[in-house]
Amino acid sequence: MFVKMEFSIMDAKSSYKGKVLVAGATGKTGQWVVKRLQHYGVPVKVLVRSEEKARIFGGSVEVAVGHVQDSNAVAAAVKGCDAVISALGSSSFSGEASPSEVDRDGVIRLADEAVKAGVAHFGLVSSIAVTKWFHPLNLFAGVLFMKHAGEEHVRELFSGEGRSYTIVRPGGLKDGEPMQFRLHVDQGDRIWNGSTNRSDVAELLVLSLWNPKARNRTFEVINEAEELQDTLNPYYEKLAG
Ligand SMILES: NC(=O)c1ccc[n+]([C@@H]2O[C@H](COP(=O)([O-])OP(=O)(O)OC[C@H]3O[C@@H](n4cnc5c(N)ncnc54)[C@H](OP(=O)(O)O)[C@@H]3O)[C@@H](O)[C@H]2O)c1
Repeated sequence: MFVKMEFSIMDAKSSYKGKVLVAGATGKTGQWVVKRLQHYGVPVKVLVRSEEKARIFGGSVEVAVGHVQDSNAVAAAVKGCDAVISALGSSSFSGEASPSEVDRDGVIRLADEAVKAGVAHFGLVSSIAVTKWFHPLNLFAGVLFMKHAGEEHVRELFSGEGRSYTIVRPGGLKDGEPMQFRLHVDQGDRIWNGSTNRSDVAELLVLSLWNPKARNRTFEVINEAEELQDTLNPYYEKLAG
């Protein structure tokens, strides 16, 4: 009997066999990225600053220890991975967790080493308002400027042949389970405020590994209304390249 095999996102999902490096995995969004990858059975490697902190994963992931400032550690982390999802984020005005060190140079270093290692896809958590130089958030060591520079580098490197990127720009991040809200997505950085769950940002980036509509897309996301979702895949249908 001949059974017609049609491509569907479901087929792609179940057939995704790549290993994914999560940078910033011990952060609040990063932990959700790990959880959602594991939900779909995707093998995970994490880049963490502290081996002790990696104990939260209970041995369920491969661990690479290092700071994103250390090219050798980053190169070792991306080795053998098919995709990288960065949920890195700065938390101090200066030093190794500053916006210039993490959101700009850290993301740039991660992308550079990923390309050298043959990584095919890069997912990045950015922010709404990254293009607004006069936004008050830039008072925090130019954090939006820094994020935008990181974004630009990822777009440049990963839009090349055989590679892809997905950049999610969320509003204010909240905790909570995924798929509890109908989302509003937009492009062109036109959203000034709003919030969304870290878990949905994670879900969108995980889906971007196999959803062809997510290839080379940059978009903003905020919650629209409380409403259970079966999947976040349809939000990718609305996006332009
Ligand atoms: N908060 C908001 O409302 C909001 C809104 C829009 C966008 N965002 C962005 O969304 C992203 C995720 O936010 P979040 O709240 O989940 O962040 P988070 O909890 O602060 O996590 C940040 C992660 O980055 C890691 N990190 C920082 N410096 C590092 C370094 N030098 N080397 C290696 N790892 C380093 C941290 O490691 P440790 O665990 O070791 O500290 C942590 O795992 C960030 O880029 C943030 O700017 C946030």
